[in-house]
Amino acid sequence: MTDAPILELTDVSAEYGPFRSLFGVSLTIRPGAAVALLGANGAGKTTVARVASGLVSASAGSVTVDGTDMTEARTYEFARAGVAHAPEGRSVFATFTVEENLTLSFRRALGRSRVKAGLEEAYSLFPRLGERRSQTAGTLSGGEQRMLSLSRVLVEKPRLLIADELSLGLAPIVVDEVYETLATIRGTGTALLIVEQHVQHALELCDDVALLDHGTIAWEGPASEAAEVVVTHLFDREGS
Ligand SMILES: Nc1ncnc2c1ncn2[C@@H]1O[C@H](COP(=O)(O)OP(=O)(O)OP(=O)(O)O)[C@@H](O)[C@H]1O
Ligand SMILES: [Mg+2]
Repeated sequence: MTDAPILELTDVSAEYGPFRSLFGVSLTIRPGAAVALLGANGAGKTTVARVASGLVSASAGSVTVDGTDMTEARTYEFARAGVAHAPEGRSVFATFTVEENLTLSFRRALGRSRVKAGLEEAYSLFPRLGERRSQTAGTLSGGEQRMLSLSRVLVEKPRLLIADELSLGLAPIVVDEVYETLATIRGTGTALLIVEQHVQHALELCDDVALLDHGTIAWEGPASEAAEVVVTHLFDREGS
């Protein structure tokens, strides 16, 4: 463990073919910190999330993870360095039980000898999953399914979890559950980069906010000061 930021983007630009979507973006996430990345549709949030996990390469600027230059690194090297992308949607095997789903991913991620400890940890973090360990995953509620996906990530203990629109399409009460899950993950020391349309939830969970506008950082600061800036910014943009 070092004091180096877990993630540092410096003057990052990114392009999709001829289309440039990021223009000199700089962003720092300290170990254990939670940063909300906000902005209008098309502002470049998903692109930042992809650059931060190695899914898209920066065309200029640099990316470091834990002090190591990762600008040219591949996605699996980001994963190996402890950067996890939250699985989108309901990435569970519907016909397998909760326990079978967890066992499969822990066997792969942790090795056979640590499956039992992984299960115990998952059930202590999410007692609801323990109660439903014999239920097939396809019959879990939407929020429970996302809890199951997240608990797999969690037990792998990433240094940084990147969550892009994790609550998309979920009912408000389920979104609350997903945010409780993210808070639990945060509590274990994992840093978070949260891309979210539910601004209020993101502001409650995160310490810091970065606001993207047309591929540049328009504002950065503590979440406590962000509400007004963000509302004004997003409101003006929609109105224009
Ligand atoms: N694969 C791609 N090919 C071409 N252009 C792309 C591609 N992916 C994204 N873009 C463009 O890059 C810009 C930024 O997109 P991005 O997905 O990062 O925005 P976003 O902030 O996540 O938006 P949203 O809130 O709608 O998810 C957009 O103008 C988008 O059209
Ligand atoms: Mg997006």
